[in-house]
Amino acid sequence: MVVTTTENLGPGSDTVSTDYDRKSELKAFDDSKAGVQGLVENGVTKVPRMFYCGQSNNLSDGSTSSGDSNSKLSVPTIDLTGIIHGDDHLLRDEAVEKVRHACEKWGFFQVTNHGIPTHVLDEMIQGTCRFHQQDANVRKQYYTRDLSSRKVVYLSNFTLYQDPSADWRDTLACFWAPHPPKPEELPAVCSDVVIEYSTKVMALASDLLELMSEALGLNRFHLKEMGCGEGMFLMGHYYPACPEPELTIGTSKHSDADFLTILLQDQIGGLQVLHDNQWIDVPPIQGALIVNIGDLLQLLTNDKFISVQHRVLANHIGPRISVASIFRSNTPEAISKIIGPIKELLSEDNPPIYREAPLKEYLAHRFANGIGASALVPLKL
Ligand code: OGA
Ligand code: NI
Repeated sequence: MVVTTTENLGPGSDTVSTDYDRKSELKAFDDSKAGVQGLVENGVTKVPRMFYCGQSNNLSDGSTSSGDSNSKLSVPTIDLTGIIHGDDHLLRDEAVEKVRHACEKWGFFQVTNHGIPTHVLDEMIQGTCRFHQQDANVRKQYYTRDLSSRKVVYLSNFTLYQDPSADWRDTLACFWAPHPPKPEELPAVCSDVVIEYSTKVMALASDLLELMSEALGLNRFHLKEMGCGEGMFLMGHYYPACPEPELTIGTSKHSDADFLTILLQDQIGGLQVLHDNQWIDVPPIQGALIVNIGDLLQLLTNDKFISVQHRVLANHIGPRISVASIFRSNTPEAISKIIGPIKELLSEDNPPIYREAPLKEYLAHRFANGIGASALVPLKL
């Protein structure tokens, strides 16, 4: 696509049209196989045009600032002390109630005392950082857009060629469950911690799915038995410091195309969720993890639990590192499975909002339209 803009070349010249060949700019960037970090390593002082996001993200609609009336609002934090391995029914009922409220009203919450030691979280952030900061020639060996042929993939912007603007972010993705990579397929700089963190985050998802099933009034194992916790891939995001953060964005607004996401973020900040039409900061809490509902759980629960849009602002300060554990299986069997609202949740007063469809139909809608597209709309009855 060639985008034509007009630029005034100054006194004595007429206003002329210049062609900005977006496709070539994207391709040159992609062919470098070094990501946004590669631009930074080459000393970039201006954000290249392909990253300009003014219109698609309406940055002017406001990051919240302190003193703003909305700063009092924040996503719920739920303390899981005594819940994961405990048998105190009263404590559990309280936690289930908090999970229900958070999933219905926010689609996002933070958990503390979730059973993954802080030193494992810290090492996961550091391991991700080591990957993205190692020599570009080593990173390049992992760079590909062919997600089907490899379990460990490095790339910048999954939907680079579909999105209206590129995000200021690179990602190391590791397809973990149901078939984990062999240890030697993992990058040496982070293999040990990827194995340890993935194992622990899978166990946490299983505990969260039990709480969520109960919060829906279902049998404790219902969501797990449907396979919501079976597939998982990790995305180790790296957001380099940005010379002109007002022109671009770290992650464009989107909702997650999965059942559930467990997100680890470092202490830099920048993640925001759209709540009642306002962008609300999700502040870093040492040792905590963020949990959010994805589109597929909104669909299964017939809109009882909500999959909420969120984004990450670009920042002069960086790098910012986050690790998203995306719970959704990519196996041929899993994507052929028909999904639709859970029958036990439906009634005359609560008829299905979505039609049943194979998961791959949902995914095709989602990935044909880029990061910001909600694929639930075409499935609405
Ligand atoms: C994602 C995401 C937020 C972050 O990976 O889907 O929203 O903080 N990440 O990196
Ligand atoms: Ni997300």
